[in-house]
Amino acid sequence: MDATKYDSASDSGLEVDPRVARVSESYQFHQIEIDFFQLEDPDANTYFDTGFRTTYSASLTSSIEQYIYENGRRYHTYYGEEKNPMPTDEQEQERLDIHHEILSEILEGELYLAPVSNPRKVLDVGTGTGIWAIDMADLHPEAEVTGTDLSPIQPTWVPPNLRFEVDDAEKEWPWDEDYFDFVHFRNLAQSISDWDYMMSQCYRCTEPGGYVELAELGFELFSDDDTNGPAFEKFIKLLAEACEKIGRPIATEEILRERLAKVGFQDIQIKSFKQPFGPWPKDQRMKRIGAMVMMTAEGGTQAYGMALMTRTLGMSAEEASTLCREAAADVANKNYHSYTPYYVAWGRKPVATQQVKTSEEDNAMSEEELLGEDDLTGEGNE
Ligand SMILES: C[S@@+](CC[C@H](N)C(=O)[O-])C[C@H]1O[C@@H](n2cnc3c(N)ncnc32)[C@H](O)[C@@H]1O
Repeated sequence: MDATKYDSASDSGLEVDPRVARVSESYQFHQIEIDFFQLEDPDANTYFDTGFRTTYSASLTSSIEQYIYENGRRYHTYYGEEKNPMPTDEQEQERLDIHHEILSEILEGELYLAPVSNPRKVLDVGTGTGIWAIDMADLHPEAEVTGTDLSPIQPTWVPPNLRFEVDDAEKEWPWDEDYFDFVHFRNLAQSISDWDYMMSQCYRCTEPGGYVELAELGFELFSDDDTNGPAFEKFIKLLAEACEKIGRPIATEEILRERLAKVGFQDIQIKSFKQPFGPWPKDQRMKRIGAMVMMTAEGGTQAYGMALMTRTLGMSAEEASTLCREAAADVANKNYHSYTPYYVAWGRKPVATQQVKTSEEDNAMSEEELLGEDDLTGEGNE
């Protein structure tokens, strides 16, 4: 008998692929190990509550769906527990969608501020629930929009010109040079460690003349009448401290400008807006914004604060959770009138493409710099 044929195959007279033989054997003879990790969430008795999204046909077998449960929230961990200090559970998804409304209202209905009129290829990095990318695809049906995120939390029913990909934006980007004409990042400050590398990938994949936009909440607390709530003030201070400690400082105008300029983007512009906490502003639009912010304050303080304060600052879960609750209560307190900045920064890749500078190149002085321009031109020489 031919050595590649197997006994079981001889019954039917068909050859059995050795790969199939091996798989069926391990299925028959080895016990399937139980993942006790699945049982760790005491409140969840069915798989429906544990993060397995049975509505996704591929998700049951996909290892991308890896989570941990911590202090009642679900964190996605496929790319590592430290990667994203924020949960991506249903509560957070709802908050992200409301926050999109808040930010759109702050920008008075604009999705972005860069002077992009007829984009053809758009990328939304760290797209979250994909809500910005969905609106963008609807707004520009002629454009091909891509949204990427560590977590597969995007909906399946989306405009036909939009696709989502699960990917780590801090790794080498899979697209060709000059591929996109608009790249958008929003609220990723607390998530990204290596902005220099990520922005150099962004520069490479942006076409000459194309734009990149960075939009970030500032997470500094201001009050024009000096009425910041003490718990909220402490919360924001500790949040900034934790972000600094993990090498992901909160965004400022200078930081955003530097992120764009360092890799070569030009014509940089930055606008700052105010996001009020609570419906205290008189202006009706600002009041609406503040009211929506207040609605999400409890979930928001938890989402931003719990992991950073317990894992990074070593606070106990109880201590951190009390602070989050008290901070949210300050947002709902009529006597406090706080706001935080929201920055939108954008820049353009120069049309005559120049090399992305590496940090070594930055440090190395050019011949001109060493000799001085005069020496090279001959001017100033005797
Ligand atoms: C605060 S949410 C913002 C979501 C969205 N940009 C928005 O404004 O609605 C941050 C998102 O970034 C994603 N994220 C964090 N680190 C990332 C990375 N290295 N690569 C891709 N996505 C990342 C998270 O999974 C999360 O969905």
